[in-house]
Amino acid sequence: MTTKSFVIGHPIAHSKSPLIHGYWLEQLGIAGDYQALDVAPADLPTLFDDLRRGEYLGGNVTLPHKEAVIKMCDIVAPEAVEIGAVNTLVAKQGAVHGTNTDLYGFLSNLDQQAPNWDRESETAIVLGAGGAARAILIALRNRGFSQIHILNRTLERAQSLANELKGPFQAHRFEAFADLAPSASFLVNTTSIGMHGTKFDDVDLGLLKSDAVVTDIVYTPMITPLLATASARGLKTVDGLGMLLHQAVPGFEAWYGKRPEVTLKLRQLIETAMEDK
Ligand code: ATR
Repeated sequence: MTTKSFVIGHPIAHSKSPLIHGYWLEQLGIAGDYQALDVAPADLPTLFDDLRRGEYLGGNVTLPHKEAVIKMCDIVAPEAVEIGAVNTLVAKQGAVHGTNTDLYGFLSNLDQQAPNWDRESETAIVLGAGGAARAILIALRNRGFSQIHILNRTLERAQSLANELKGPFQAHRFEAFADLAPSASFLVNTTSIGMHGTKFDDVDLGLLKSDAVVTDIVYTPMITPLLATASARGLKTVDGLGMLLHQAVPGFEAWYGKRPEVTLKLRQLIETAMEDK
């Protein structure tokens, strides 16, 4: 039987997944082989044939394939259908199962880094309405937040997301932040703002509840301007690297039959690899 698994993308050179899974294989003493494969869109059908023939246990899917592979899977988990993207494939008896572990990764990271972050489960603010926002919105809804505000530069995009996903979602422009913040106990950034030194203009974190938790799914840099400002104001912050680590857990367990742990040592390994870039 095969011991091979993969991450597919195009390009794939910057993926941290081989380091994460390689670390777990070594730690757990499993003779597995996790490879980064550069697969062009036209070559996806061949990869799926290989999966069905048992050449791989499964693998991760990254850009630009996360949406395209949904249609190629034999069975798609409900959360992946709702998110509209598959990031994990598992081959079972000739069939390819697709799922999305971002929802799990997002929640597990917060549970580990900020226990009780969801204790109030009332009002959450989500910045951004792009592809990355979908998993976060569904995760917050599933955790029982009773009001989830989607703030986006383009209001129409936030509105269409709020209409499409079933839940307590309301769409706004960023300018609404000042009015909404005093009742919010949770804030997450899902936009690319924070990368390359960019920052928000209309987001005054001092208006949030004093016990609010602030997180960012951007992890380059690890401490985004949003997180730095939140920390300076005494708010609890959680960086986005943990989501990357936690979302890898369910795939590894499905392929290799052992549940790996997200430890400080693993985090340090990935942080060091990012510094070397
Ligand atoms: P992803 O799939 O990574 O979420 P995306 O679908 O392109 O990427 O979405 C990017 C998000 O970041 C969107 O919410 C986008 O806002 P718009 O819908 O108005 O485009 C937001 N975003 C990106 N750059 C931005 C900027 N400079 N200012 C404000 N919002 C920005």
